[in-house]
Order: sequence, then structure tokens, then C-alpha cells
Amino acid sequence: MGKKKSSESSEFSKADLPKVDIGIAPASREEIAQGLSRLLADTYTLYLKTHNFHWNVTGPMFNTLHLMFEAQYMELSLAVDLIAERIRALGYPAPATYSEYAKLTSIPETAGVPKATEMIQLLVEGQEAVVRTARSLFPSASEVHDEPTADLLTQRMTLHEKNAWMLRSLLE
Ligand SMILES: [Fe+2]
Repeated sequence: MGKKKSSESSEFSKADLPKVDIGIAPASREEIAQGLSRLLADTYTLYLKTHNFHWNVTGPMFNTLHLMFEAQYMELSLAVDLIAERIRALGYPAPATYSEYAKLTSIPETAGVPKATEMIQLLVEGQEAVVRTARSLFPSASEVHDEPTADLLTQRMTLHEKNAWMLRSLLE
């Protein structure tokens, strides 16, 4: 991959943004959209890691983990749509390339194929990372009464905290 800066970058022209008059100032909408873009990148990255582990897990816990990871990646694959569409409703483009996600996410990629218990630990850390990102956006959303975003963040935090607990319990 070359180093050209280009049409593939995440930059977009502000002149192309639609006029959106929903009672939230443009600067606040932009801040929230940027935060949601980080949440989208985290969610997509965790989705891929979970699907990876669903495919590659081995060992005596295979059946339990294969199925648990499946339920989790399927939920994540639906969640990215809700987050991206909230960004669009705020008037901004949703990032949707692996290079943008790599820049925006707080979740590192996992190289190779870890042992099953390490997979569980990595997914606990991934679930917790998404919760932290979602929680960090909460003040900017509530400050401007962006209830739809706050509601989405609440749902995502509830789900990821529950997933983290269930995964963590397998290690105790
Ligand atoms: Fe499968």
C-alpha cells in the first residue's frame, strides 16, 4: 500500500455536509459524531476479533466457546449498523474502511491464534474497551440533550458490561 494521501483518507469536506437543524449546535454534533466514530471502530474491531475466535477456537471448551462467540459476533454485527446510522442522523459520514477503523479503535489486533483461555481474556479486554469508549462520550451527548445518542450509549454499555461479566466468569 502506497503512502498517497487521497480520496481514501477519512477527511471530508465540510462544505459537502448537509444542513441539519435538530437543536444541537454544529460543533456539538461534530464532537458527538467523532466520538461515535470511535465507538463504531471499536465495535467493528471487536466484531472481527470475536468472529476470528469463533472460527479458530480449539480445546475442551470448543463447543461452549464456539457458540458463545457466535452469539456475540452476531449481536455486534447488528450494533455497528445502529451506531453508523446515528452518525448519519447527526449529519456526518460514517467511517467504513479497515484503515479508518485501525486509526480510530482503542482495541489492538491479535496476531496468530491464541489458546482458548487467552481468547476469553482478550475478549473481556475488548468488551471493557468498548464500554470505556461509550462512557467517555456520555458527557458530550447529555450536555446537549442528545437523548437518542445517550440511549444508544446506555444500551451498548449495558450489553458490553454483561458480555464482559459472562466471559470473565469463564476464567474464575
Ligand atoms: Fe460459524
